Amino acid sequence: MRIPLIAGNWKMHKTIGEAVAFVNELKPLVQSASNVEILLCPIFTALAAVSEAAVGTSIRVGAQDVFWKESGAYTGELSAPMLKDAGCTHVVIGHSERRGRFGVPEPDLAGDAGLVFGDTDAAVNRKLVAALQHGLVPIVCVGETLAERQAGRTDAVVQAQTRAALENVAAADAAPLVFAYEPVWAIGTGETCDADEADRVCGVIRGAVSTAFGEASGAIVRVQYGGSVKPDNAAELLGKPNIDGALVGGASLKADSFAAIIQAAQSSGA
Ligand code: PGA
Repeated sequence: MRIPLIAGNWKMHKTIGEAVAFVNELKPLVQSASNVEILLCPIFTALAAVSEAAVGTSIRVGAQDVFWKESGAYTGELSAPMLKDAGCTHVVIGHSERRGRFGVPEPDLAGDAGLVFGDTDAAVNRKLVAALQHGLVPIVCVGETLAERQAGRTDAVVQAQTRAALENVAAADAAPLVFAYEPVWAIGTGETCDADEADRVCGVIRGAVSTAFGEASGAIVRVQYGGSVKPDNAAELLGKPNIDGALVGGASLKADSFAAIIQAAQSSGA
């Protein structure tokens, strides 16, 4: 049985003080949670404080990105060992925003200004390999843009992104992997992917893992859905057989709505 993973991706929100206050508010709401894994992904500067605040709870802490080198002259970057040092157990890799693919148009980031968000499939793969090497659970985001969906390319896009992420990974190392199906058009837009369609595409991602590593690995790997997950749509999404949790942006910023999604995961019997 795959335990659902409910992850809050806070993106560029919350100061250290706000992040710690959130953990203290969330703790009593989830203290009896079972059969669900809970993860918070705050900004880099809050990782250590959130890890500290979560000691003794089932709340785990993840980073929103990682660089694949261990140390060196890479100004502004953080390595997997450094994230572990700050208390991380997980890391989000290849989020569509890091790939420079935004669900909501970002005119300010058009042209050269957007190059900072330049994760390619090859970079995602290196980050994944580094995370596994250092014992961090990678949550690898894949998903199509609206134009790709309208062109009927959804399956081809997620298959290609999944395959590319798994280059140089051995089947024996696949077990901890988590994928997140995040249709770019559903991120931060309030547009949720229809639950049956989300389930179908999560199955396509699982199928790509099976093709790379065999059916047994495909059956173990968890595939989350992400994109405008909220308390009122979580139960339907999380009740689907191929959806093993949620990567939650906006609705993870308030403890009560995040706790409601965790509750929905427990009730889903996923
Ligand atoms: P959202 O973000 O829930 O605000 O749509 C999800 C994500 O980007 O991971």
